[in-house]
Amino acid sequence: MKEQILRYVSRDYPWKDRFHFLPQVDSTNDYLKKLAAEGAPHGTVALSDHQTGGHGRRGRSFLSPPGVGLYLSILLRPECPPTRLMHLTCAAGVAMCNAIENSAGFRPGIKWTNDIVYGKRKLGGILTELRLNSQGLVDYAIVGIGINCCQSAQDFPPEIREVAGSLAMVTGQEVDRFRVAAAELDALYDMSVRLLPEQEALLSQYRKDCITIGQEVSLVRGDEIRHGRALDVDGEGALVVLFPDGHTEAVNSGEVSVRGMYGYV
Ligand code: BTN
Repeated sequence: MKEQILRYVSRDYPWKDRFHFLPQVDSTNDYLKKLAAEGAPHGTVALSDHQTGGHGRRGRSFLSPPGVGLYLSILLRPECPPTRLMHLTCAAGVAMCNAIENSAGFRPGIKWTNDIVYGKRKLGGILTELRLNSQGLVDYAIVGIGINCCQSAQDFPPEIREVAGSLAMVTGQEVDRFRVAAAELDALYDMSVRLLPEQEALLSQYRKDCITIGQEVSLVRGDEIRHGRALDVDGEGALVVLFPDGHTEAVNSGEVSVRGMYGYV
């Protein structure tokens, strides 16, 4: 799969020698953490056809069967304080919308902060993990992305069949995973270059792609559920919510999860 993917990346993609293809792995994020500890450089990518322990945010598992999806993680070493990376998951979301548009021919949306969606279905998700060094600066960031490419509705287990989707379910056509993977590599390289100097431009595109803005939302923090209306995404990627008593709050994705009032999106 490695050669077929690299055949489609743009000619000036600079990290071909940092690309690791793994037929099967527990989790590409966890694999990359081990490489990072051994000193792997900025731009190292692990991509797998099959994860046996793929995971998402809040310890949830991310179903990663063979032959139908793409499970990819990229290691970034931006040498900055973590406060400069508050928008990283948003930037990765925009990169995935670009990659899917360029390879599958449609632009999905983003459910704040990290779900790639189309209509009422989740096509993929993003898991960002940071490690700091002893000076409190970023040692590395790992951005892990799972995309459902070729599944039909019956391929998903009954408990997520109504809310999960794939690129092929949207297009109604076969999806070339090599092209999608190559588009992901190109889009993530572009993101890495723009990440610090173009934070506001990336967030401005994120606001266009984010389907949560303008929606009635439920904010879940532990046992507490509050309802409000999502007004905006701020300059650091936090969701600005208006509550019925008239006050607004910028909520952080680490603190709360957001649900649409009437279903998953
Ligand atoms: C979510 O939906 O909460 C995020 C899912 C992220 C899944 C990807 S697949 C590649 C990488 N490896 C993992 O174990 N997780 C991420």
